Amino acid sequence: MAIVAIYPGSFDPPTNGHLDLIARAARLADHLIVAILRNTQKQPLFTIADRAEMLKEISAHLPNVEIDCFDGLLVDYAARRNANLIIRGIRNIADYEIELQMAHLNSRMRPETETVFLPASAECSFLSSRMVKEIITLGGDAANFVPEAVMRRLKG
Ligand code: PNS
Repeated sequence: MAIVAIYPGSFDPPTNGHLDLIARAARLADHLIVAILRNTQKQPLFTIADRAEMLKEISAHLPNVEIDCFDGLLVDYAARRNANLIIRGIRNIADYEIELQMAHLNSRMRPETETVFLPASAECSFLSSRMVKEIITLGGDAANFVPEAVMRRLKG
């Protein structure tokens, strides 16, 4: 059975942690869909189109990775895409608690799609889009935290 995995998230902005997870998840799946949630965040840093562009650039060297967007429930999107795996990164216990809850709820709603947790790499375990967004918004230098493709857009 081919493994079609979804790595869902907000990716606002994509960080080095996301990039690390994408590369590792791409090795586990036959096809990996990085799926950006189109939610109604009041103050996004980047538009969905920009996030998709950046994620495409970041993953251009990985032939089995696709970038897509989704609305609504993740499990409904997983059903539409015939995905059998959801991948989520875990940095710490706080992540684990919320991710475990989501995994159980998603599994109840759609048992055909299994959730797999990947531990964040040690060097990325302190990164979060929320914090990076704050650093950027307040004029800090995020060069150590986000891929080059993101920095270029911030400067441009
Ligand atoms: O990058 P994030 O913000 O941590 O990603 C969270 C995401 C997109 C994975 C989660 O909010 C999600 O799956 N949203 C879609 C709506 C949904 O299915 N909610 C029920 C989860 S039990």
